[in-house]
Amino acid sequence: MQRVEGKVCIITGAASGIGREDALLLAREGAKVVLTDLNEEAGRQVAAEIGANALFIRHDIASESDWQHVVKTTVEHFGRLDVLVNNAAILALGSIEDTTLELWQKVQKINGDGYFLGCKYAIAAMKETGGGSIINMSSVAALGAMPMFCAYSASKGAVAAMTRSIALHCKQQGYRIRCNSVHPDGVNTPMTQALAGGQAIPQEALDQDPMNRMAAPRDIANVVLFLATDESRFVNGAEIRVDNAQLISGL
Ligand SMILES: NC(=O)c1ccc[n+]([C@@H]2O[C@H](COP(=O)([O-])OP(=O)(O)OC[C@H]3O[C@@H](n4cnc5c(N)ncnc54)[C@H](O)[C@@H]3O)[C@@H](O)[C@H]2O)c1
Repeated sequence: MQRVEGKVCIITGAASGIGREDALLLAREGAKVVLTDLNEEAGRQVAAEIGANALFIRHDIASESDWQHVVKTTVEHFGRLDVLVNNAAILALGSIEDTTLELWQKVQKINGDGYFLGCKYAIAAMKETGGGSIINMSSVAALGAMPMFCAYSASKGAVAAMTRSIALHCKQQGYRIRCNSVHPDGVNTPMTQALAGGQAIPQEALDQDPMNRMAAPRDIANVVLFLATDESRFVNGAEIRVDNAQLISGL
């Protein structure tokens, strides 16, 4: 028996980085996966790699009508929804002094509204089939202080607080829908590679250094997989830090 056998999962931002790895791992463990992203070409490629148990849908997570379409299509295609991995997001550089209102609002619209809408429409579908698991990708930026990521940190803090609110709401309503947030430090993906001039960094080189701050996407996907399984049935409203002790040593 595979760990998520027969579960139907939506993974946003599945064309790249952590979301891609989540989709591949969940599918290997028996899930039916709906991959969504703005990047159609790369998203379709990952879905093709997985095969018949994968479906790609072009999706802007900031759009309410896109979310309605994604959840409806998932239920039509695979019959139900068990797991939502709210993963797609954008990173924006800028302290409080050099972040414009326009950039702030753009980040909150994608990283904040996008996750809110995902939770809202996923809960409506999960309620119909007896429960589910929502996994919200936050960041250590929500827990510590990162002066150069003002808008991004705020959006990830909102995700963490919303996660706790949703977890308790669903428990009180008796929905059997769990909601947890995951908080990585640096992960070796195109998002962080862009900060280093777009160069891919070999993970093997990073892994040589015991003080290395960069996890591999698989390190995060392993946690997502656990939260998707029934093994985590008592983990609810939790903030799961995946940072190899970085936060407690000062970011
Ligand atoms: N990489 C890190 O160091 C790190 C650390 C902590 C948290 N995270 C979080 O992990 C998640 C995944 O990050 P990643 O490093 O894999 O990033 P990535 O840039 O490699 O992938 C993000 C994907 O999201 C998609 N996307 C962006 N905006 C979208 C939108 N509006 N609608 C739909 N798709 C959209 C992009 O096309 C891309 O495929 C994000 O929530 C990020 O904030 C990443």
